[in-house]
Amino acid sequence: MILKTVDDLRAVARGWRAAGEKIGVVPTMGALHEGHLSLARRARQECDRVITTIFVNPKQFNNPDDLKKYPRTLEADAELLATVPVDAIFAPPVDEVYPDGFITTVTMQGVATPLEGHMRPGHFDGVATVVTKLFGMTMADRGYFGQKDWQQLQVVLRLVRDLNIPVTVVGCETIRESDGLAMSSRNVRLTAEGRQKAPVLYAAISRAAEDIRNGHADRMAIREAAETMREAGFERVEYIELRDAETLMPSDDPRRPRRMLAAAWLDGVRLIDNIPV
Ligand code: PAF
Repeated sequence: MILKTVDDLRAVARGWRAAGEKIGVVPTMGALHEGHLSLARRARQECDRVITTIFVNPKQFNNPDDLKKYPRTLEADAELLATVPVDAIFAPPVDEVYPDGFITTVTMQGVATPLEGHMRPGHFDGVATVVTKLFGMTMADRGYFGQKDWQQLQVVLRLVRDLNIPVTVVGCETIRESDGLAMSSRNVRLTAEGRQKAPVLYAAISRAAEDIRNGHADRMAIREAAETMREAGFERVEYIELRDAETLMPSDDPRRPRRMLAAAWLDGVRLIDNIPV
C-alpha cells in the first residue's frame, strides 16, 4: 500500500493503534539498498506494523545540485520493500509535507553543530524538522535509523528526549559491501574506478582506530589516514575526527565511548563513514 497524503496515512495508523498494534517507522529518502532493508527487517521483527517513509526532504539539502541529483526510484523501492514486507509506504509530494505557509523549523544546537552540522549548515534543522513531522504523521512507537549516519542518530536521540516525543529510537548497525564500503544511496553515483577506490575510506579509518587503540597518538593516526585517502585518489578529505560518541565533541578521554567519523569527496561524490574506537 503506497500512501501519498497525511490524511490517508493517519486513517491507516489510527486503525492500527486502535487495535493495539505497535507501529515501527523507517524514515528514508528512497533509492533503497540493503542497509535500508535491514532497518525494515528489524522493524518487522519488533513491531506489528511497519511503515517506510520515502521522502527526499528539500529542507536538509544545503546544496541545490545535490537535491536535484538525489536518485528517485519509487517503483524499484516498492519492489524491494515488498520482500520484507512492510505494511505501508508513505511517499508524499513535497507540498503535502511543506504546504503553502509552512513556517516552523526545529532548530538544534550541541550535537547538531560540529562535523556534518558545520559542513552542511541547516542540514540537521532540516532533518529534525522532517523527523518530528514523520513521527507525528505515522503515529509510530519505534523509529529505525542506521548507524552509518552516526551524528544524525545522536541528533534524533536528543530530539526525542528534548521534545518528549513518545518514540523509541533504534540505531542499527551499518551494512557494508563485501569490500567494506558502507552502503549508501550515493554510491551509485561513483564511476567504476571510483567504486574501486571507495573502500579505502573504511580501511583508512579502521587502521587509524586500531593504531589509536594500540597507543598511537590520535593526531598522527588521523593524519596518516587522510594521507592514505588522498594517495588513493580522494579529491578532498573534509574531516576525520575522533569524538565523544554521544556528544560529538572532541574527546581525548579513552574511558568514554569514542567514535571516529569521516567525510571525504571521491569522484565528486561526498562519502561519510564512522566506526567505534
Ligand atoms: O537518513 C535519511 O535518509 C534522512 O536524513 C531521513 C532520516 C529520512 C530524514 O529525511
